[in-house]
Amino acid sequence: MKYNFDEIINRRGTYSLKWDGGDLIKQVGLTERYDEETIPLFTADMDLPVPQPLLDALHKTVDHKIFGYSVLPDEYFEAIQHWFKKRHDWDIKGEEIIYSPGTVHALNIAVKAFTGPGDGIIIQRPVYPPFTPAIEGNGREVMNNALKCDDDGYYSIDFEDFEAKAKEENTKLFILCNPHNPTGRVFNIDELKKLSDICAKNDVLIIADEIHGDLIRRDQTFIPIGKAAKNEDHIITFTAINKTFNVAGLHCTNVIIPNPELREIFRGVLGMQLPSPFTISALIAVYNEGEEWLEQLKEYIDGTMEFVKNFLAESMPKVKVRIPEGTYIMWMDFSGYGISPEEVHDRIYNKANVLLEDGNMFGEEGLNYQRICIPSPRPIIKEAFERIAREFEDINQT
Ligand SMILES: Cc1ncc(COP(=O)(O)O)c(C=O)c1O
Repeated sequence: MKYNFDEIINRRGTYSLKWDGGDLIKQVGLTERYDEETIPLFTADMDLPVPQPLLDALHKTVDHKIFGYSVLPDEYFEAIQHWFKKRHDWDIKGEEIIYSPGTVHALNIAVKAFTGPGDGIIIQRPVYPPFTPAIEGNGREVMNNALKCDDDGYYSIDFEDFEAKAKEENTKLFILCNPHNPTGRVFNIDELKKLSDICAKNDVLIIADEIHGDLIRRDQTFIPIGKAAKNEDHIITFTAINKTFNVAGLHCTNVIIPNPELREIFRGVLGMQLPSPFTISALIAVYNEGEEWLEQLKEYIDGTMEFVKNFLAESMPKVKVRIPEGTYIMWMDFSGYGISPEEVHDRIYNKANVLLEDGNMFGEEGLNYQRICIPSPRPIIKEAFERIAREFEDINQT
C-alpha cells in the first residue's frame, strides 16, 4: 500500500511529549517558550503514520479484551533474527536476545553490571545527551574521545586518542553510537573493525547503541559492529523498534549479548522484565511485515533532507549542514552568523517559536550547532524553516 507521509495528524491531546509536554520541556530547560503555536522538532520521534500491519496487530490485541502479564513467544525472537539477517546480513541466535523496556534503561543497567565506581567509560562527543548521566549518575568517569570535524562538516574518529584512552588502566567500557546521533555518521567496516580490535586488545567492553541502524540514506550500508568484529565476545548491542517504526511509546529494546557469561551478569542486574502484549504483537508485526513501509519512509526522509539542504542554501546560506549518512537528524552549524549561541537560541526558540535542541547539550563540541529531527510531514518542516529564516533575514548579508 502507498502511505501518505504528507498527511498532518494532530498529536495535541494524545499525551505526546513533543506536542503536549510543554511544562516538562520548560522545566528541563530546553526552551523558555512553549505554546499552541510552537513547532516542536526536538525529540527523536516521528509525526508520521506507522505501518498498516502494525495497526492491524494492535487492533487484534485490543480485541482480546484482556491485557495481563505476558511472555515472549518464539515468534518474537524469530522475527528479530529474521529482520537482522535479511536487512543487515547479521546472524543472531535466539538465546542471545534479552528484552528491555528501553535503551537508556538498558544502558544504565549495563553500566552498573559491567563497571565499578570510578571506572572510565569512553564516549564520542558531540553525542546523545543521556550517555553522560548514565556514566556520571552511576559514579563512573566520562572519557571523551571527541569526534573530529573537517571543513565540510564530516566527522571522523580520532583513533590515536581512542587507543590512548582504551589503554588507560581504569577504562572498562566504550559506548558506541552507530549511526551516530547527532552527527549522522554511519561508521564503515574499517572503522568498526579498528574500534573492536582496540577494545578487545585492552579488555574494554563495547556497548553498541545501534537503534538508528535501519534509518540510513538509501545509498548507504549499515554494518552492525557485532557483524564487523572478528569476535563478538566483548560486544553488547542495543537494537530497538522504537526509532525505525515510530513506536517509542511501546518501550521495546532488544539487547544482543553473544557472550554467555556477560549475558548472565546483565540478566542478573536487569531482573525479570515482562513486556506488554502490545509490545510483543508490535514487534512481530513490524519485523515480519514492516519492510514495504520502511522503504517508503526512507524515500520520504531522504526527500525532506534534500528539501532542508536546498532551503538553507537558498535562504540561510550561512548555516552549514550536510545530509547525514544515517538517522533522521540534521546537525546545523550556525557559527557563520558570528552571533552568540544564546542569540541563535533566542531567534529560533523565542522569536520563530520553533523548538529544536541546542548543540551544547551534546557536549561543548556542539556549542554553535542546532539539532533538528525532520521526520514530520514536509509542510510542517517547511513552515518551521520559513519561520526561522525570517528571524535571520537581517543578518544574512552582514
Ligand atoms: C542514540 C539513542 N539511543 C537511545 C535513545 C532512546 O531510546 P529509548 O527510548 O529506547 O530509551 C535515543 C532516542 O533518541 C537515541 O537517539
